[in-house]
Amino acid sequence: EKERTLAIIKPDGLAGNYTDKIREIILDSGFSISKEMVVQLDEDTVKSFYAEHSSRSFFQNLVKYMTSGPVLVMVLEKENAVADWRGMIGPTDARNARVTHPHSIRAMCGLDSERNCVHGSDSPDSAGRETSFFFEDLSSVVSKHDE
Ligand code: CMP
Repeated sequence: EKERTLAIIKPDGLAGNYTDKIREIILDSGFSISKEMVVQLDEDTVKSFYAEHSSRSFFQNLVKYMTSGPVLVMVLEKENAVADWRGMIGPTDARNARVTHPHSIRAMCGLDSERNCVHGSDSPDSAGRETSFFFEDLSSVVSKHDE
């Protein structure tokens, strides 16, 4: 059974020219990239995407970071996509990733707990929400607007 997950190459990853390398890792790991787009996120979009973190002390910095330059948003598809992509990116803090998961993507291109160069949905529920957040046609919910 195929599954979808949302991957984001964050501003530092895109600016650091890691995109081709990350794309190669993704494809070599058996994922297909079913959607992708480069976008410059605005503050409201980031706040809404990361709403669950809105009370955290790092939230304002996170908004600043995620709006600091364009990001590459991708929908990845394969069996067990959510857990496999999370495993490949490694722990949130890239400094820990370099110690405990040296072959992970965050170990390769991340800097610290904030500037960790990539995002991955943390559960199948989040993946559903996050893929439809960015790609309306993946939404199973008919919004009021469309009625
Ligand atoms: P991500 O897994 O995409 O989702 C939440 C993001 O918030 C995370 O990556 C980091 O970019 C950021 N973040 C999480 N924890 C911290 C922290 N302790 N300090 C700063 N930023 C954080």
